[in-house]
Amino acid sequence: MINFPLDTVYLESVDSTNSYLKRIIKEDGLTRGLAVMAEMQTSGRGRLGRSWLSTKGDTLCMSVAVKNKYAEGFTLLAALAVYEALTAFCKDKALQIKWPNDIICENKKLCGILCERVNENTLIGIGINVNDKAFADEIAHKATSLYLLSGKKYDVKDIFRALNKSFENVFAKYDFVFTVDAKREYEKLCANIGKNVTAQNQEGEALGVGEDGSLLVKTKDEIISISSGEVAVHNIY
Ligand code: BTN
Repeated sequence: MINFPLDTVYLESVDSTNSYLKRIIKEDGLTRGLAVMAEMQTSGRGRLGRSWLSTKGDTLCMSVAVKNKYAEGFTLLAALAVYEALTAFCKDKALQIKWPNDIICENKKLCGILCERVNENTLIGIGINVNDKAFADEIAHKATSLYLLSGKKYDVKDIFRALNKSFENVFAKYDFVFTVDAKREYEKLCANIGKNVTAQNQEGEALGVGEDGSLLVKTKDEIISISSGEVAVHNIY
């Protein structure tokens, strides 16, 4: 199956763009890579079983399905692609990646990514706060949007198209693998590195990422490797 250029689907409303692609894969299978965006989601899903809230037309809710071999660290490669696309829309501000794959700016979350494996495919679900002006109380202290950062409004479809192109470029560049070069690029952008973090009830300094995409943390006793779950970066979130 050829992944790129991606086929695209626009939906007015859906439960979750990731769930939509999951159904397509299970029912019909894919004939090429597929990207879907929805004006609104009624049951958006986040990492670690959380829900993802979005505002109709303001938050870009999209998912991309590609066929690829399972590769550790893929979710960090996806973050690199999203970072590259969003940087072009936010030229005056430095974006960073908070491990594993949040895109942040000024220490606040601009975008979250949920990768899921379905049969031979990977789904990359991306939620980007684009024109959002306010957030629900529970996330207001840690969320931002392109609009709040730049004072400009964006057409979410332009960002959707830019992301699709960026996935094509980055996946072609690294052949879907979190290579040593991708790791080097990721580490330059990773907001955790050099900071004190708390993960799995242990505190320490984040040193870098492993070849498998795990976060390496130096505690007072040892270096531990975090491969899943939440990592709090002190003074960020
Ligand atoms: C996270 O930070 O927890 C990941 C959030 C991912 C949200 C996106 S929105 C589009 C796609 N569909 C979903 O249900 N979730 C992802």
